[in-house]
Amino acid sequence: MCKLLYFMFMSTMTLPTPADLTITPRDRKFGRDTPPARLWHGKRVEATAIYNALSTTFPKGEAYFVESVRRFRDGAPPKLAQEIKAFTTQEAIHSREHDAFNRRATQSGYDLTKLEQRVEFRLALTRERPPIVSLAATMALEHFTAILAHELLADPRHLAGADRDAADLWRWHAVEEIEHKGVAYDAWLFATRDWPRRKRWKVKAKVMLLVTRNFVVDRTAGALELMRQDGVTGLRAWALLLWYLWVRPGMFRKIGGAWFKFFLPGFHPWKEDDRHLLAGYDASADFDQTPKRKVRNAA
Ligand SMILES: [Fe+2]
Ligand SMILES: [Fe+2]
Repeated sequence: MCKLLYFMFMSTMTLPTPADLTITPRDRKFGRDTPPARLWHGKRVEATAIYNALSTTFPKGEAYFVESVRRFRDGAPPKLAQEIKAFTTQEAIHSREHDAFNRRATQSGYDLTKLEQRVEFRLALTRERPPIVSLAATMALEHFTAILAHELLADPRHLAGADRDAADLWRWHAVEEIEHKGVAYDAWLFATRDWPRRKRWKVKAKVMLLVTRNFVVDRTAGALELMRQDGVTGLRAWALLLWYLWVRPGMFRKIGGAWFKFFLPGFHPWKEDDRHLLAGYDASADFDQTPKRKVRNAA
């Protein structure tokens, strides 16, 4: 039965995920040996604040992604099942490292409680819903993460001036986000293979609009809260943050085109093969490529 479903699935759809793609969990640790610096991003309040706000979402957010995608592993075609396994391992390690990064932010004096509560609130909204809802949210957020990762690696200005350990963490995370960017989407295609095309598009478009609104509103509010803790408030805080996000280096503005492609017919994350951004990463890094047993179990 499983085999029959697999062949039916493969005959109706060609997955654009590159056949020679390998998803490699790189079990790295960052920033354990240096004391935490408060304004680690070039001593800039707004730059530090937005990356810290983003990092606050990862420990619980990526555990949620793992939970949402793993539910669809049983019965998936073997290649996809294998990719889901590698995806969950990567995300489990990301959760661990961002948890450590967030603890360092706390040690340097930030109170992340409000930001963490907001993440929990958003995740709780889908927990009582059918598993396909969590998968849809994960699929949309994974596209969001992948285009942020692409921009982060494509333009060195985003991490210019950042402390070495922190910059390494963000680059490492970006590499793996690009590598596994098709997994949640392929799981979604597989899970909704019986849906009419129109229904599938309507749901994914609606979910993307919703998660984008929540993402932009929550990360902006989170960054402003952290800037307040640094004594920067009011118009000055808004001006610094909006300039940083939308003008220079302008991360949110620059991902606009890639974000829009999600709504086009026939979209797939691998329609843009951006593996050139990963070239040389593994060769230049000194790390243990084999995830420890603890991480493998967590995934
Ligand atoms: Fe991740
Ligand atoms: Fe991811």
